[in-house]
Amino acid sequence: MKGIRPYARRLESIEPFRVVEVLTRARELEREGRDIIHLGAGEPDFATAPPIIEAGRASLARGETYYTEAGGIPQLREAVSTYYQSQYRLTIDPRRIMITPGASGALLLLSALLINPGEGMLMTDPGYPCNRQFLQLVGGEGQLVSVSGEQNYQLTPELIASHWSHNTVGALVASPANPTGAVLDREALANLATAVARRQGFLVVDEIYHGLSFGVNTPSVLEVDDNAFVINSFSKYFGMTGWRLGWLVAPESAIPGLEKLAQNLFISMSTMAQHAALAGFDPATRRILDQRRDVFAARRDYLYPALKSLGFGLGAAPEGAFYIYADITRFSDDSQQFCSSMLESHGIALTPGADFGRYRASEHVRFSYTTGMERIEEAVGRMRKVLN
Ligand SMILES: Cc1ncc(COP(=O)(O)O)c(C=O)c1O
Repeated sequence: MKGIRPYARRLESIEPFRVVEVLTRARELEREGRDIIHLGAGEPDFATAPPIIEAGRASLARGETYYTEAGGIPQLREAVSTYYQSQYRLTIDPRRIMITPGASGALLLLSALLINPGEGMLMTDPGYPCNRQFLQLVGGEGQLVSVSGEQNYQLTPELIASHWSHNTVGALVASPANPTGAVLDREALANLATAVARRQGFLVVDEIYHGLSFGVNTPSVLEVDDNAFVINSFSKYFGMTGWRLGWLVAPESAIPGLEKLAQNLFISMSTMAQHAALAGFDPATRRILDQRRDVFAARRDYLYPALKSLGFGLGAAPEGAFYIYADITRFSDDSQQFCSSMLESHGIALTPGADFGRYRASEHVRFSYTTGMERIEEAVGRMRKVLN
């Protein structure tokens, strides 16, 4: 690299998203003719529901190929507002809703809005890995709080009290969470909101897995705290990962700043995707999406006890999302090695705990039940042979 300047130092503190690396290796093995069972990737295996695809096609046919408003087309902001009314009995002014390029775009906007260089936000370890990278990018830091099954893998007022430091400006939680599927109930959300408000902090709740919960209520934090920031997405329940569309809800005072940032960072989201997403709220589409949620529930109901019987250490059954975070200490003390051997020797793609933080990461792997039941049964069969 003689004569070329080095790339920016910030890259040294950004970690790779290993699940993507697992997927790349799995695809390589498939090209070599191997039969790989995908329990790694964090996206629904179902293709986007037909009415949404149709709406996207119709939008293109109408020639809707231009930039839109930076905060999203008004119809979609209205539709999301109506959704809050029907799902949560909440009246949210559409002006407080911004459409974003996925929850990822919302995380980037909120990191830029809330964090000064040198400041940080509390977040769980294990947790969604990209959060702390977004904070790094704006000169901040993710302040990781080790959590286990004892705290339902979530932050608590006690943990907030013991970890809040001079440069902490808020807390970021997800419910249901990735990689644990742990859900915060209304009381837990209210307690968190009180603990953060007491410190004049920002509370950000990532509600991306709402709609994918099994027999439990997943309240929005907005039911207990109108000042909270909410992140959501069309990726998971709405099954639109590849369309790159999400949203956030913010207090009115934050919207001018967020719009300014969105104008500069994105100009607008995919126009076709926004028109397609409108169809996601139609009752006929919702029926398809709810049926898919029930399929995820059935997979969890099979995989959770099956993993337990194989000897994986499991906390309480995950109540949402499509993940099981499993302790592998009966088999190995090196989850990276365990995942590598599962993939290379047995054709099962899993995600090592190191993707989600540091706390007991080498003792855990994440299973994503985002493949058909037959394939999940096949994976359990393969594991039974090698682990027993
Ligand atoms: C907790 C959580 N937040 C945010 C995202 C980003 O999702 P997207 O940008 O596709 O909306 C993911 C993706 O897996 C996630 O698990």
